[in-house]
Amino acid sequence: MKTIAIVSRKGGVGKSTLTMNLAVAAKDSVILDTDPQASCADWGDRRNAQAPEIVTVPAGRVKTALKQQKAKWCLIDTQPSAEASLIEIAQSSELCIVVLRPGQLELDALGATLAAMRAASAEAVFCINQAHPQANLSELILGLEAHYPVGPVIRSRADYPAAVSEGLAVNEWNSAGKAAIEVNDYWTWIQEKVIND
Ligand SMILES: Nc1ncnc2c1ncn2[C@@H]1O[C@H](COP(=O)(O)OP(=O)(O)OP(=O)(O)O)[C@@H](O)[C@H]1O
Ligand SMILES: [Mg+2]
Repeated sequence: MKTIAIVSRKGGVGKSTLTMNLAVAAKDSVILDTDPQASCADWGDRRNAQAPEIVTVPAGRVKTALKQQKAKWCLIDTQPSAEASLIEIAQSSELCIVVLRPGQLELDALGATLAAMRAASAEAVFCINQAHPQANLSELILGLEAHYPVGPVIRSRADYPAAVSEGLAVNEWNSAGKAAIEVNDYWTWIQEKVIND
């Protein structure tokens, strides 16, 4: 099993949304929902599908919970701001996806997440999420690449809130939509990263 944690100490950047959508793209996957807010678990309750399995687990119990999983991929949704548990989760994962929304306040807060990644000696990559559909991000990407690789950009699309309220991923809601294409591209990039490293 390959374990990937979706992290950011800034709230509301799209960690839970990305976790759900990548878990569906991954197919053979389980979600460990470590956030007491339980966004992924709530979404799972709205799904008719069996997969992905969603296990709610306190952040401090991730190591134990991981031993019981049998899926090919395990995606861990994390809560913002909890540093100690974030370091422990990062150390239990092959890769951390640092989710970032383009914006000054998000950039100001990025240092705290990067410090946790360094403290954990984590392998990490960025996911730029909720970018304006037309925004030119080349300067931001260049700055981020000084720290970790940056995957294909995910832009702000109405399909995300629409799908989530139906308990669906964007590629189940509208498989030909731009949101689905961007998520699939991002997942392909992650898969190659994890398998080739
Ligand atoms: N690419 C996107 N396009 C449009 N809306 C998005 C996108 N990604 C996330 N959202 C929306 O942004 C909001 C916050 O997303 P989400 O709850 O996944 O963030 P989070 O990082 O998990 O938040 P928290 O830190 O509170 O756990 C939600 O309303 C979600 O539908
Ligand atoms: Mg969340």
